[in-house]
Amino acid sequence: MLETAFLIFLVIFLLMKYLMARDTDGTVLPSLPPGSLGWPVIGETFKLAVQKVNFFRERRRLYGRIFKTHLFGNPVIRVTGNKNVREILQGENKTVKSSYPSSIRTLLGPNALSMSEGLLHKSRKVQLMQYLSPEFLRKHRSGFVDLIDDHMLRWSSEPSVDIYLEIRALFTEMAAKFLVDIDILLETNRRIKELYQQFTDNIFSLPVNLPGFGLYKGLRAKKELKKIFAAIIEEKGGKVSEFPSLLQAYGADLDDYARPDDERLLDAIVELMWNASETVSSGAFAIIYHLTRNPAVLQKVREDIESQGIDNTSGPSYLDSVVKEALRVTPPVGGAYRKMNKSIGYTLPKNWTVICGFRDTHENDVTLSDPLEFNPDRWLQAPEGKDRAAFLTFGGGLRICPGKNYAMVVLRLFTRQLCNRFAWKFLTKDPELVLFPAPKPKHTLHACFFDKFGKAC
Ligand code: HEM
Repeated sequence: MLETAFLIFLVIFLLMKYLMARDTDGTVLPSLPPGSLGWPVIGETFKLAVQKVNFFRERRRLYGRIFKTHLFGNPVIRVTGNKNVREILQGENKTVKSSYPSSIRTLLGPNALSMSEGLLHKSRKVQLMQYLSPEFLRKHRSGFVDLIDDHMLRWSSEPSVDIYLEIRALFTEMAAKFLVDIDILLETNRRIKELYQQFTDNIFSLPVNLPGFGLYKGLRAKKELKKIFAAIIEEKGGKVSEFPSLLQAYGADLDDYARPDDERLLDAIVELMWNASETVSSGAFAIIYHLTRNPAVLQKVREDIESQGIDNTSGPSYLDSVVKEALRVTPPVGGAYRKMNKSIGYTLPKNWTVICGFRDTHENDVTLSDPLEFNPDRWLQAPEGKDRAAFLTFGGGLRICPGKNYAMVVLRLFTRQLCNRFAWKFLTKDPELVLFPAPKPKHTLHACFFDKFGKAC
């Protein structure tokens, strides 16, 4: 009995290997990149779930910049290196098209902006970028600062706070208030944060919607998020004028009366809030994490603010390079998923999934002698042009992040208020980080805050 099962398994395994070594028209692909396709169907997905970011690091060390694996039900080629990645990203709609694992597509829903294609994608993206214009950012600047101050003052009034959770509360409220035009109460905010954490933690899962599986947990979290947002829409009386046109870019149909059970509107709110709070929170956490570990940098930021004045608008400052360097060393999005529209040699065969590794590219940047070091000075010294450090944090090509300017503005203001007005201490020495799917502390991380005129830790 056991032998028969083993034989069946072996036959499936060999068959999969055979099929995976062929192009879609059956031709043999003689020289796929090195790497392993793992087990039939599940490939190396469980290894990734256990090893997380070390999965990619180890394979890169073993096989080099381009290697094959099998994840989330698909054969995959992982590509790193600034030039390689940029080439793939620039090929959008020609050699490649965006293609995320089915767990992400299912979780974001059929109308998601990040999954849309062609003219629809183009028009929605233009609409989004027009909405998040420099004028919009200028208009809300003091609103952003007030909200940041409110949260930081509250942190400093407590003996200690769970810093990652608090940062997420801040940027969730900011996204809700300034992008979706809704106010959320502290209690509701707590639940929203928890639900988005479950959503993000399960975004890369096997496509199995059964209890115990990641996709099931992610969908359950989304269902509750939609319920919360539906209740808020109901409170607003469902008037279309109450919702910003930004939601239209996310696929909401705002032509009619906004019903609280309108799936398109709810999906749009879930996607927008996810885009605008999870990544920005991860980025803000990376900033405070690196500043804590580098007191000399923190001191320099404070001197920079003092010499340039708090409202410096005269061009890039040391503070700007701190933000950029934190986002380079600890990028909130580790990579981008594409499907090959046509083969590029044998290395990137048609219909295969390609993951462009942003984090690995930054970690192994050949133009830098110390790519793993947090060194904001490099952005002040580095010449423009080809010798500049790789910076793929916001992607590239047609799919480049449309929220980049919003993210950079609010992260700069966050850093400025943090350094200028407050001091803090992590209550865990050398906290460990988890980098996949997005950077966060491995264990609950408490920090003690005080404003410069207030209590001491
Ligand atoms: C530090 C913060 C952020 C980081 C690091 C980040 C990173 C990225 C990256 C790397 C991509 C490209 C993915 C790909 O090529 O497949 C992307 C796409 C996207 N981002 Fe961001 N993002 C951030 C903030 C935001 C914000 C604030 C918003 C919305 C207000 C946003 C909305 C989007 C959307 C809609 C896409 C899909 C674009 C498309 O498919 O054309 N992001 N983001």
